[in-house]
Formats: sequence, structure tokens, C-alpha cells
Amino acid sequence: MPVTVVVGTQWGDEGKAKIIDLLADSHQIVARYQGGHNAGHTVVVGDQKYALQLVPSGVFYEHVTPIIGNGVVVDLPTLFNEIDTLESRGISCERLKVSSLAHLIFPWHQAHDAISEFNLGENKIGTTLKGIGPAYADKARRVGIRVGDVRDPKRFSELVRERAVAEQKVLTALGSEKLDIDAIVTRFIDLGARLLPYVADTVNLLHNSLDRNEQVLLEGAQATFLDVDHGTYPFVTSSNPTAGGACAGSGLGPRDITRIVGIAKAYTTRVGSGPFPSELIGALGDKIVDIGHEFGTVTGRRRRPGWLDLVMLRHAVRLNSLTEIALTKLDVLDTFETVRVCIGYEMNGKLLSGYPDNPELLSAVTPQYVDIQGWKTDVRKVRKFSDLPTQARTLVELVEKHVGVPVTMIGVGPERNECVVRT
Ligand code: GDP
Ligand code: IMO
Ligand code: MG
Repeated sequence: MPVTVVVGTQWGDEGKAKIIDLLADSHQIVARYQGGHNAGHTVVVGDQKYALQLVPSGVFYEHVTPIIGNGVVVDLPTLFNEIDTLESRGISCERLKVSSLAHLIFPWHQAHDAISEFNLGENKIGTTLKGIGPAYADKARRVGIRVGDVRDPKRFSELVRERAVAEQKVLTALGSEKLDIDAIVTRFIDLGARLLPYVADTVNLLHNSLDRNEQVLLEGAQATFLDVDHGTYPFVTSSNPTAGGACAGSGLGPRDITRIVGIAKAYTTRVGSGPFPSELIGALGDKIVDIGHEFGTVTGRRRRPGWLDLVMLRHAVRLNSLTEIALTKLDVLDTFETVRVCIGYEMNGKLLSGYPDNPELLSAVTPQYVDIQGWKTDVRKVRKFSDLPTQARTLVELVEKHVGVPVTMIGVGPERNECVVRT
């Protein structure tokens, strides 16, 4: 099984990093393929908790080479902060490689993100304000500056200045504050010099690794329903987190991929605006947020809670060719009287045949639920499927029946070993 992709199946924060950390032990490379520092990936090792934004979740193993792939947009101040923090805690980032083809984020991208959200007012997307959308927009309109450009410092500083001058005009016309162009250029010359030792031809590096029969893991950020094509547009991110994006964002081909693990929480959350059929407003939702600590790793925002939605999950199986599912945070439901699972959407008295192609319909559908009696048992110490309470197993089996792929891992706590792995 040379290449495994791990992808979020909901709206992010499914616990991808915890599962990636678990799987990374048997891999030689862990590579991010899209997104940027909008991601917040939490790994808990013993009593230590790490929140990663750009550094791949395999960094905790010395035998793993972490790669930031070509599909990622890279914010250098965040990257170096993260490296400094990890190294101060004894985690070496020396092996990290950053694709020469990845695009860089600059302060004007963040300024555009802020202005665009401000102008949208009540209709704002609720972005992380990290400049992700504007950086991908520049990539698409072919004016982006790439990681490999730092290899020629003189040319790099000219490129930064040219772009800053051009963006200054647009931003001031939009009513934004002036950029301090000289300060930006000076800062990025320093950041570029610091980046140099990490810059690599990661596409050939990945293929050479496969030629040696090594195991590669591709780490998705965000999730299926935040995908710019398949998500709840316009309330999405600006990249393709779906498994197809793993090829474009890493340089590996579709036939290299053999295992695609979809991560789903045993319930659902979403940060930011947009439709959410199984959303729970009120005390039950608050209970999920409290027990699940559902606050954003990056922005600290409260995540909107809801029940598990198998209409979405079945669509995620299709979109990503999932070979299996890891169901996380089962333990968060331990104290609930009843656990609900959405198995269909009704509209004007009719059951929809599947996930609709019009995201606006999602705000109008009535979810159809199956109720499972709560198991009222602490599952955190369980490591074998047969030791889970019957009702919890019923939940897992309901998921498998509805979406057609096996649930191979079940998260029962935040720590690395708090997982039921079915063999
Ligand atoms: P990611 O963005 O998909 O990597 O997920 P986040 O790290 O943003 O959010 C998941 C949160 O749930 C983190 O705080 C994890 O430590 C935690 N977590 C992951 N798996 C489990 C689990 O099975 N049970 C519990 N209780 N917490 C978990
Ligand atoms: P991980 O990898 C949850 C959401 C934002 C917003 C929308 C667009 O930790 O699962 P952006 O800044 O990307 O332009 O924001 O996407 N979003 C996430 N939500 N988890 C994430 O990452 C997210 N990354 C972006 O809240 O609704
Ligand atoms: Mg997250």
C-alpha cells in the first residue's frame, strides 16, 4: 500500500491530525497537499498537545520526512513560528521539505481577505482571514510568487516589490490602509533566506520515495464540504481538499494511491457561515460543544454542532473514492440519552435521492433521523470493537450499512493510542 490519502469528510476538524499521527508510524513521508495556515491540526502525545497549521502531522516521528506539497499556500511568518515552537519543545523540523512550486502568502492577501469579508457584511463567508482565498486567486491568475523564487534573492525581492506596488493600488482604491512596501520587502528577503534550506523538488522526492517502495501518506486539510468545487459554495475554502486534489497538490498520480481514509466525527461541526442540515441549536448542541471542546484551534471560534449526517458521508465516499472511514470522537457522545443520525433529506414531503447539487437546498431540507439509544458508558479505555457497548456498535454498523465502506478506526479520546483499530 504505497500511498494513503487522509481526507476530512465533513466541514473540517474531524480529528484528521490524530489519525494521521497514528498512521504516520508506518510511513516514511507525510505530505500536506492543499490549504495553508487556515488548518488547525491537533496531535496529543502523552501529556503534550501540539497545534499544527502548516507542518505536517507526521513531524513527531524521526523516521518521517514531513513535506509541504506544491498545492499548499505558505505563510512564512507562521511556518517559522511553528518550527520555532516545535523545536523549543524538542521536536526537530530539520527534515521538513517545502515544495519549490508552492505559492507564498503575503500581507496583501490578508488585507484582501479582510476587505472582502467586511464588504460581504452579513453574508460573509467567515474565513479564517489568513489570506488563503486571495493567495489561491493570485495563483490562478498567474501572478503568484512561489517558494522556488527565493532561490534567486535579487529576483525574489524585485518580485515582492512589483506585486506590493500593484496590490497597493488596488487595496487603496478599495479603501484599505497603505502597505509599508519597504518594510514588507525587507522582511521577506529575510524570510526567503531562512526558507532556502527547506526548499526542495518535492515532486521528484515523492516519486523517488515510491521507487524505493516507501510508504507515503498525503494529509488533507479542511474537508470535502469545504472543497471549492464540491462544497457548500460560496461557503467553502479556495482549494480542493477532496482526494482528487491530493494528486494535483503533491505531483503523485491517481494510480499511485491505494488507500483513501475518510475522517468523520461521530457528530458534525462547522466553523463559519453556510448551510448545515443537521445543525443543533440549543442545549444539546451546547453539550456537544462543551464535551467535545468544539472551539477552533486557529481562530478560537465556537464550532457549530450537529448530528452525524450520512447523506453527506455517503456523498463524501463517492467524491473521494473512500476505501474506509475513521469515526472519531465517539466518546463525546458517551453521556447522551439518545444519539441521532441523519439518513435522508426531505423536501416538500418528498425524500431526496441523494446529496443535492444546489447548496441552497441544504438550508431548506428537513433531515430524517434514526435514533439510537445512548450507551451511557465511558468508552475511552476501550481498544477492541467487541468491547464497545452494543448501541455504539449499532451506530458504527449503521454508518457502514448506509455509506458502503468499512469503519476501520474509532476514536475514543484525543490521545494517540485512544483508538479502536479493527483488523
Ligand atoms: P483536524 O483539523 O481534523 O485535525 O481536527 P482538530 O485538531 O482541529 O480538532 C479535533 C479535536 O478533537 C482535537 O482537539 C483533537 O485532539 C480531538 N480529538 C481527535 N480525536 C478525538 C477522539 O476520538 N476523541 C476526543 N475526545 N477528542 C478527539
Ligand atoms: P482543518 O484542516 C474547519 C473554513 C472557515 C470558513 C471557510 C473559508 O483544521 O479541518 P478560509 O480561511 O479557508 O478561506 O475559510 O473554511 N475553514 C475551516 N473550518 N477546519 C479547517 O481546517 C478550516 N479551514 C478553513 O472557517 O468557513
Ligand atoms: Mg482543525
